[in-house]
Amino acid sequence: MDIQWYPGHMAKARRQVQQNLQMVDVAIELLDARIPASSRNPDINVILKGKPRLVVLNKSDLADASITAAWLNYFARAGYPAVAVDAHHGAGIKKMIALAEQLARPAIKKYMARGRLARLARCMVVGVPNVGKSMLINRLAGKKAARTGNRPGVTRGEQWIKLGGKLELLDTPGILWPKFEDPETAYKLAVTGAIKEQIYNPEEVCEKLVQWLVGKAPDTLAKRYKLSALPEETWEVIERIGVHRGFYLSGGKIDSYKTATFIIKEFREGKLGRCSLETPGNQ
Ligand code: G4P
Repeated sequence: MDIQWYPGHMAKARRQVQQNLQMVDVAIELLDARIPASSRNPDINVILKGKPRLVVLNKSDLADASITAAWLNYFARAGYPAVAVDAHHGAGIKKMIALAEQLARPAIKKYMARGRLARLARCMVVGVPNVGKSMLINRLAGKKAARTGNRPGVTRGEQWIKLGGKLELLDTPGILWPKFEDPETAYKLAVTGAIKEQIYNPEEVCEKLVQWLVGKAPDTLAKRYKLSALPEETWEVIERIGVHRGFYLSGGKIDSYKTATFIIKEFREGKLGRCSLETPGNQ
């Protein structure tokens, strides 16, 4: 995230999202498909209150497809319709629009039952930084429409983006704060890019990432870095990757900082395969 979230920022973000929510019929809660639990705002149920909600798992191109399917089931069982999308390439977007429109129908019916003229259903995107809010809005708008800059308080004159004939989307996303307390969650947010490098130690985060990868995708790791057998110790795996890439310091030691940032970058770009870091009921 580009800013530290202090209580004042959080209160302002909450106020702003709640203000914008008054204008819409449906909230699109955008999550990172690789970490659907960790990329949720901790107060989301209170913030959205009774507003109809569509859970959207973005970056599904980077997540394990079978685990994403399990998450979709999990959310559906919890009473939240959910869909997986890839805002980068456009997969799942049509289904997302259809579901949002469906969820907005009762509100529109109620509105018209009061004798008012028909209007389009309205929705907005909410989520923590880096889940892909701007990319999704830009894709839907077909141009650079989303107000970027992850700061609460960026709302200017709102505009609506037409999504088919019945639904429109607020071009300003609701930016909410992530979870802070749990260290495991912080690691997942750092690994996936939701926390900026200035705030975490890449070597520590990389160690955690490699531990996960050794457990979840040892073959991908071994193949990518041509490791004949994975060493038992995580630091040794990292060092072997550094050797493979030739990341040496002047005295001949491995540059562990460079190696760590490189591995994290490779993971974020999907070069280490499609990898989900949490499964329902096992975060
Ligand atoms: P935000 O508004 O919620 O903060 O997120 P934003 O759209 O800025 O997206 C954060 C990062 O995630 C961007 O990468 C963006 O390209 C990437 N992204 C968003 N959606 C998807 C998706 O569905 N699949 C994949 N693979 N990536 C996605 P970045 O490296 O920070 O910037 P850049 O690549 O745009 O330069």
